[in-house]
Amino acid sequence: MAFFFCLTNEGLEKALKAEMTSRFPSWRLAFSAPGFITYKGDGPWPSPYLARLWGECVGKGSVEGCTTLDLGPVGVWAVHVQTPAPLWKDPLQLSHLELPAEAPSRAWLKAEEAIELSGLDLKSGDSAIEVGSAPGGAVYALLKRGLHVRAVDPAVMDESLKVFPNYRHIKKPFQELTPEETEGVDWWFSDLNLAPGTVLSHVGRLLREVKKPKALIITLKLGKPEMAAEVSQHEQRVREWGFRRTMVRLLPSHHQEVVLIAKP
Ligand SMILES: C[S@@+](CC[C@H](N)C(=O)[O-])C[C@H]1O[C@@H](n2cnc3c(N)ncnc32)[C@H](O)[C@@H]1O
Repeated sequence: MAFFFCLTNEGLEKALKAEMTSRFPSWRLAFSAPGFITYKGDGPWPSPYLARLWGECVGKGSVEGCTTLDLGPVGVWAVHVQTPAPLWKDPLQLSHLELPAEAPSRAWLKAEEAIELSGLDLKSGDSAIEVGSAPGGAVYALLKRGLHVRAVDPAVMDESLKVFPNYRHIKKPFQELTPEETEGVDWWFSDLNLAPGTVLSHVGRLLREVKKPKALIITLKLGKPEMAAEVSQHEQRVREWGFRRTMVRLLPSHHQEVVLIAKP
């Protein structure tokens, strides 16, 4: 019998439990506190989508040779981290990024965290599109990095973005994009508040008509806890489009969502 721990974002505990039950049924709930859940079980170690950090849970207190997680009121726990390439120096995998006061929305954090997570080599002068871009936090992050950005959303974008000469707002639903409007894009961002299946159906169709971008950075909204169980199907679907290097991760700024990053 082994113990497994998951560190998740507060408010996502229910969704993480639903994912664990459906994807890793041989692991049973052992302990649950806000943002920290442990399981006992046998068999291969799980790798849940809805956790920022996970691995073997050795026990409470500090243990030599283990990573120590100081979880405040929940206590100090000794673990062996199994998350591939933990991102940030912070043992709890909280990012060091701070939302700039002038950013049009908190989605600035999602974009910057995803870029850091995957080491995307965005260069000044590259071209990016974001579908589901209003009011424009992520677009602001990309424009500040010197990219040419097409923002696609029928909703209103923040006025402040107009000072960037390389910014274009395509004010319509992304399903109506033409191949000319999506051609020549290096980086494809999607942050739509729509069901992931709907998003992928249309993104897949649009991508068939243009040269493959260097990466897709797609937020998958998980409106209901049981939607976490479907994430592996979304990942598989994107691989079938020829984006074979995929990762799905929960970012510190995420609420009911994860990011799918896919490279050819
Ligand atoms: C989470 S918000 C996006 C936040 C944005 N990425 C930012 O940086 O501020 C989701 C957006 O999806 C947009 N949206 C929903 N359906 C859409 C569609 N069919 N086409 C384009 N945008 C859509 C909404 O108008 C909303 O602005």
